[in-house]
Amino acid sequence: MYPPYLPLLLLFLLPFLFLPCFSAAVSETMGKACNQTLDSGFCITSLQAVPKSDSADLPGLALIALNLTYTNVTSSTTKLLALQHEATSPAIKNTFEACLMLYENIIQPLQWASQFFVTRHYDVAKAMFATPLFAPTNCAEIAGKVMEMDGNNTFFLMLMTRKFMELSSS
Ligand SMILES: *[C@@H]1O[C@H](CO)[C@@H](O)[C@H](O)[C@H]1NC(C)=O
Ligand SMILES: *[C@@H]1O[C@H](CO)[C@@H](O)[C@H](O)[C@H]1NC(C)=O
Ligand SMILES: *[C@@H]1O[C@H](CO)[C@@H](O)[C@H](O)[C@H]1NC(C)=O
Ligand SMILES: *[C@@H]1O[C@H](CO)[C@@H](O)[C@H](O)[C@H]1NC(C)=O
Repeated sequence: MYPPYLPLLLLFLLPFLFLPCFSAAVSETMGKACNQTLDSGFCITSLQAVPKSDSADLPGLALIALNLTYTNVTSSTTKLLALQHEATSPAIKNTFEACLMLYENIIQPLQWASQFFVTRHYDVAKAMFATPLFAPTNCAEIAGKVMEMDGNNTFFLMLMTRKFMELSSS
């Protein structure tokens, strides 16, 4: 025997049970573009956090990905500032300071990439990623586990953005 409230509970849960089906709908543009990235699952999940991804064309997706990258970089910087503030040993403070430099150096190339991209200099925009691409890994190497996940996210978002810019130009 199941409790009498079970049907009611199921009725309440019903919309949530179907939710994954709806959010799994991926636009053709997004599916094709994400298929050409290193981690298509990560690509789709990241883009789906932005509702207008569903209706975006390829250059639109590139700009959305660029925005996601920018947000990730700035939130990593905020996190690093807090870590640096909390650190008691000078050596560890230095480590986070070095990481901050690496992450702060990503911001300017992202802005240049954005400017070149909106003026349709797609290849130049793409080239702006050459140096920043390694910053998150370098940071995780010196700061360790605490920055590993952030580093991976930022790295994959930059790769994705760069790939979308490359695809936009062809
Ligand atoms: C993406 O790749 C998968 C596996 O290779 C394939 O099944 C799917 O049809 C592709 N999606 C698009 C939109 O090209
Ligand atoms: C960074 O990007 C990933 C992938 O889009 C996302 O899951 C994560 O929430 C982002 N982190 C922040 C702090 O913005
Ligand atoms: C990027 O983010 C800014 C600020 O959040 C927003 O105004 C803009 O519409 C976004 N652009 C795209 C292409 O998502
Ligand atoms: C980051 O990426 C590396 C290489 O893909 C992987 O080995 C590691 O487990 C990832 N770390 C996290 C915290 O996701």
